[in-house]
Amino acid sequence: MAEHLTVVSHPLVQHKLTLMREKDTSTASFRKLLREISLLLAYEVTRELPMTTKRIETPLEPMDAPTIDGKKLALISILRAGNGLLDGILELIPAARVGFVGLYRDPETLQPVQYYCKLPDHLDERVSIVVDPMLATGNSSVAAITLLKQSGATNIRFLCLLAAPEGIARMKEAHPDVPIVTAAVDSHLNDHGYIVPGLGDAGDRMFGTK
Ligand code: URA
Repeated sequence: MAEHLTVVSHPLVQHKLTLMREKDTSTASFRKLLREISLLLAYEVTRELPMTTKRIETPLEPMDAPTIDGKKLALISILRAGNGLLDGILELIPAARVGFVGLYRDPETLQPVQYYCKLPDHLDERVSIVVDPMLATGNSSVAAITLLKQSGATNIRFLCLLAAPEGIARMKEAHPDVPIVTAAVDSHLNDHGYIVPGLGDAGDRMFGTK
């Protein structure tokens, strides 16, 4: 994946994203749309995954057929909103290893504070895909990716639903080697670190909290 930023402009992705942005979309619909859109985004972020072959028999003859080497993939969810994207990708690649990084944003400083970290082993041998729906300030994503690198990961991608220019710039500065895949790049961040026009708080909207 050569590009630092890929915006998935596919009509299905854009249509579903618009429905998710609408403030009157229910929690149930939001969750369903997130699952659907994560399948479509997974398609893009899993381009160039390591492949292997396995010996199979078609009705006509044996062949060495290509398969994704799921065990070589680590999906890392930034809690808690990352789990919304994680579920869809796991549906497509059930053999992937999964890690979780818990970071909350200090409301005053907007800086990430780590409260949980559980990562798969041998990250140096895997492609890691970090998932978090909102790339806002970029502080959490940068911190999570720094953790991954400290644990040995060298081949990392970042998948989100919405990105702010501020977050993209921060990621590019801190981790220029990590390609970003997103469904859209919005206008800016507001004073509370929310993406504008955005979709509000992704965690609250998918879990029905406030
Ligand atoms: N996190 C969210 O859930 N929404 C934003 O707009 C920014 C960060």
